[in-house]
Amino acid sequence: MIRFIVATLLFALPLSSCANNSKSKSDNSNNLKTVQNMKTLNKFEFPKLPYAYDALEPHIDKMTMEVHYSKHHKAYFNNFVAAIKGTEMEKMTMEEIFANISKLPVAVRNNGGGFYNHVIFWENMKLDGGKPSEKLAKAIDATFGSLDELKKQFSDAGKTRFGSGWAWLSVNSNGKLFISSTPNQDNPLMDVTEKRGTPILTMDVWEHAYYLKYQNKRPDYIEAFWNVINWDVVSERYDSLVK
Ligand SMILES: [Fe+2]
Repeated sequence: MIRFIVATLLFALPLSSCANNSKSKSDNSNNLKTVQNMKTLNKFEFPKLPYAYDALEPHIDKMTMEVHYSKHHKAYFNNFVAAIKGTEMEKMTMEEIFANISKLPVAVRNNGGGFYNHVIFWENMKLDGGKPSEKLAKAIDATFGSLDELKKQFSDAGKTRFGSGWAWLSVNSNGKLFISSTPNQDNPLMDVTEKRGTPILTMDVWEHAYYLKYQNKRPDYIEAFWNVINWDVVSERYDSLVK
């Protein structure tokens, strides 16, 4: 019981500082302290969107954000909770579930991924989100040659994902950055994924992420995405993984 209360407090406190959706677009100054890495995402509670629905305008429109968060993301969460109800998975962290996903029901893979991936995605976006920290910038230069080259490779990962899926920038077990793409709601933490690691940046390339504003023009959405990267959050995730 004590562990439950402590875990609840740890998870609830940062969320309470998040802006709610009734706040204005101008209130987009939150510096997230919620889920910089997934070790804290183990309470199976539906997190609040960390900014107003219109906070990423004009790059990501209000209607898309509202439907994406309140309908799509919420459905994944509800279905995930239903899928693990009464099982040992209720006591496992998301990381433990994903590390064993090949042995678990497909509903857990699809909906657990849908729950987790969107949390990462919301939090790594912010209008005019600055630039990578010096430490992350050095790692990007060492791995990709430049930030522009990272953007190109990451964008290509999103553009070339056939059907629905995600593009990722992650850190592998050796502390090295890498870019990958996963289908459906898979992610780099899953044991079914070819290139495994811990994500620090992701981009949703499901049509529901862009169709209302960009229709079939996924490359235009991807180009706009680079205007809403919360580099503070991405840099903090990197720092938490690479000491
Ligand atoms: Fe999505």
